[in-house]
Amino acid sequence: MNSPNQDSSQLPPHQVLPQYYADQQHRREFVSTLFDDTAKYYDWIIKAMSFGSGTWYRKQALLRAGLRPGMNVLDVASGTGPVSQSEREIVGPAGSVISADRSYNMLDVARKTVPTPPVQCSAEDLPFRDGQFDFLSMGYALRHVDDLNDTFAEYYRVLKPGGLVLIMELTPPKSAVGRKFVKFYLNSVVPTIALLGTRSEDAKTLMKYFWDTIESCVPPPSIIEAMKRAGFVDVRRHCISGVFSEYVGRKA
Ligand SMILES: C[S@@+](CC[C@H](N)C(=O)[O-])C[C@H]1O[C@@H](n2cnc3c(N)ncnc32)[C@H](O)[C@@H]1O
Repeated sequence: MNSPNQDSSQLPPHQVLPQYYADQQHRREFVSTLFDDTAKYYDWIIKAMSFGSGTWYRKQALLRAGLRPGMNVLDVASGTGPVSQSEREIVGPAGSVISADRSYNMLDVARKTVPTPPVQCSAEDLPFRDGQFDFLSMGYALRHVDDLNDTFAEYYRVLKPGGLVLIMELTPPKSAVGRKFVKFYLNSVVPTIALLGTRSEDAKTLMKYFWDTIESCVPPPSIIEAMKRAGFVDVRRHCISGVFSEYVGRKA
């Protein structure tokens, strides 16, 4: 890794959640199994919960971050491919999009719609050469990586000088009322919709875990600091409705 100011200390995105797994070592295993077991429901769930975070929102966020026709893109933690799909529309035939994810089953769903074979790998250890991409995206998965410092160092490494990174995440609103509303929706309504729509307890657990990781995630300033520590410049956070956070940075 060739990030100029890489910090060797570890920064997991959230503390251990003992209701799901015993320690950080078992977190990776839990997350991988959870996404593998729910891959077939994922597209249905994100359509049903929508809440503004659908394909339209993803596309607007990509445009706001600076994605343009002709760029070569890496979409990390692509899942079934909703971000990659919007990227393909924006970059057009002159550009390219590679989808990458740790879950075999998520990529198996993606394979049915993506023209380029997706790559199974971890955000913290990307099998791509230095300076390969103009743009790197990660949609709703930063909470699931093992370590923010390792992840951002890899993102820095695979981007070209001047390349852009976009992290889309959900953030608990600052106001007590907003937080209560979002918590009720994501922690109660969405898991119930997921259970009723799929009849799968795993899908319900996925959506419960979704909120629990949002609530326990390190705050936006820590994410911005970690991006800067990896070497990114012009790091900024654009936030919509106090919930939809878009972190953007540029490789110097
Ligand atoms: C909530 S889904 C997001 C999918 C898609 N990006 C979207 O916008 O809907 C999270 C994805 O992150 C993947 N993931 C979790 N940890 C990962 C890691 N360390 N490296 C790569 N992918 C990871 C999961 O397998 C899952 O497909």
